[in-house]
Amino acid sequence: MCAKARDLLGTADEPAQASAAREVPRRTHRDVAAADQENAEHFDVWTRALGSIPATRSRHIPRSAMPRIIIKPSDHAFDCDADQTVLEAAMKADLILPYGCRNGACGSCKGEIVEGDVDYGPHQASTLTDDEKRAGLALFCCAKPKTDLVIRVREVRRAGDIPVKRLPVRVESIDRPAPDVAVVKLKLPANERLQYLAGQYVDFLLKDGKRRSFSIATPPHDDALIELHMRHVPGGFFTDQVFGSWKGREIMRIEGPLGTFFLREESDKPMIFVAGGTGFAPIKAMLAHCFHHEVDRPMVLYWGARSLADLYMADVPGRWQQEHENFTFIPVLSEPKPDDRWPGRTGFVHQAVLDDFGDLSGYQVYACGAPAMIDVARGTFVGTRGLPPDEFFADSFTYAAEGEARGG
Ligand SMILES: Cc1cc2nc3c(=O)[nH]c(=O)nc-3n(C[C@H](O)[C@H](O)[C@H](O)COP(=O)(O)OP(=O)(O)OC[C@H]3O[C@@H](n4cnc5c(N)ncnc54)[C@H](O)[C@@H]3O)c2cc1C
Ligand code: FES
Repeated sequence: MCAKARDLLGTADEPAQASAAREVPRRTHRDVAAADQENAEHFDVWTRALGSIPATRSRHIPRSAMPRIIIKPSDHAFDCDADQTVLEAAMKADLILPYGCRNGACGSCKGEIVEGDVDYGPHQASTLTDDEKRAGLALFCCAKPKTDLVIRVREVRRAGDIPVKRLPVRVESIDRPAPDVAVVKLKLPANERLQYLAGQYVDFLLKDGKRRSFSIATPPHDDALIELHMRHVPGGFFTDQVFGSWKGREIMRIEGPLGTFFLREESDKPMIFVAGGTGFAPIKAMLAHCFHHEVDRPMVLYWGARSLADLYMADVPGRWQQEHENFTFIPVLSEPKPDDRWPGRTGFVHQAVLDDFGDLSGYQVYACGAPAMIDVARGTFVGTRGLPPDEFFADSFTYAAEGEARGG
């Protein structure tokens, strides 16, 4: 075993590490308190709609001057301007629907149109298929109402009113812990703070209206600098600049906090975190937040990367594992290099979870990383391990350029 791998896995030998992983399900079995209101209200919007709603939908709601939208089951209602998406109008009315990419790629905002008609807007065909449209589903980040609407979607309860701000930031430092990863720290103006929930992200506001999303890796209590973990996307408009010409002290504009990928702190279910590559960033913020607030729920992190070098900050969860009884760290490499002499888990990160957990019905899962990983994790955890669909929370690292190309 090479020194880095040994540090990462602690002094434990391989069998001990493997058994620690297997202990997690046993240790985390417990009676789960009554589901919170959010969960009670929720249902599997997608399967329900696909399974039970007739293909021909009622389209009788007339178009009013400014379409009115009613959300079921909450009965919250709001108006929508002609040029607004359902999500934009809901946010303007201080109602929070689930969302991630806001450009029709990740599927987080998918919900049911119970009555009325929409223009589906530009989206990725695989994220909202024709069958799903026929079954009455829409992506609310792209859909614009053509009539008044009744929609069915889970509303996200928020922990207090957090304003979304546009702020100038200065790049304070740039580190390169792996060849294609930059850890960038941003400084806010002296009189400004960015309030956010662990797990949320910010958008860089670039020229020509372009935006690029990056998750905040620092927990809210440690907000002196905003830390981001950026993967270089070759050919990418923004990360080519970060990796090619940024030297530090650049002044940028950001908007945030954004997104609904944050801890559901009202639950006491054990939590499984699944990170792919820089998907570790928001999970780092969530875990640091949990440790700071002495959350005693059992937690396990599966962090997947190609090779050892790509686990660019593994000492952090490695240290947490030593310090916190209720936390286990399971690094998983898909293509370890011979020099890594990797004694740990190999393969796809979602598969490691499937191998360790026969039944996920009593868990919450927080997953972040490449869209393909999120999709397969959601599908298999819900489809084969009984994870309640509304206990799977994810941010999918979709590419902004693809949305721009669709006009999203
Ligand atoms: C909510 C959210 C949070 C995120 N958080 C993080 C994070 O913490 N860390 C992280 O590393 N990433 C994160 N991402 C992903 C990151 O925002 C994207 O990788 C981003 O697009 C990179 O910007 P870019 O300008 O470098 O690449 P882009 O310009 O968006 O290009 C991406 C890719 O698309 C290709 N491309 C260019 N034009 C087109 C076109 N017309 N059609 C198709 N493809 C094209 C490019 O060649 C490149 O390969 C997050 C994404 C989301 C949605
Ligand atoms: S938020 Fe609508 S598809 Fe991602």
